[in-house]
Amino acid sequence: MIDKLIFATNNNHKLEEVRNIISDKIEILSLAEIDCYDDIPETADTLEGNALMKARFIKKYYRYDCFADDTGLEVEALNNAPGVYSARYAGEAHDAQANVNKLLHKMQGQENRNARFRTIIALILNGKEHLFEGIINGSIITERRGEAGFGYDPVFIPDGYMQTFAEMGNGLKNKISHRALAVKELAIFLSSISK
Ligand code: IMP
Repeated sequence: MIDKLIFATNNNHKLEEVRNIISDKIEILSLAEIDCYDDIPETADTLEGNALMKARFIKKYYRYDCFADDTGLEVEALNNAPGVYSARYAGEAHDAQANVNKLLHKMQGQENRNARFRTIIALILNGKEHLFEGIINGSIITERRGEAGFGYDPVFIPDGYMQTFAEMGNGLKNKISHRALAVKELAIFLSSISK
């Protein structure tokens, strides 16, 4: 029976999202709640690698079973860039405005606007590693629309919708997003083993 898991994040929005989806039988603790203030390395060149790196760090130094996520925007016409480098596409400043500007610039004149957000969650539980994936397909528009959300939300329209993630607002976005899909996979797994 699992009663507690660490989520290797201090992002309150992510914590809230995950706590809402995962059964309330499992307590989800943030890094701050285990007094972890380390700068956890994320130097792998894949989403899977980074998610595992973060989860292994917590297991190794804090001895807790835990999970960690990593997300990237993969644009077909750009050979899946920015991908694992999404946060620092325009440089180490992690500037979302600059990242979107760079993306729009690279996509100028591109007919193929297909893109997807992909989230990987790595779970370490009882000495085993597990990976879960969530993908949402969509397209990159030519200029920003909407104020909500963060990152690339103003230029991404998920398939089957007319609005960008930033126009949609967090209510709907958090129901259909890549992260929600990956967390649902994790939740299904956790409830299957706690039966
Ligand atoms: P992280 O792994 O969740 O920190 O995401 C890495 C980067 O991907 C973020 O800094 C954003 O640039 C981008 N990103 C991740 N999730 C989203 C999203 O839901 N909307 C827009 N951009 C996102």
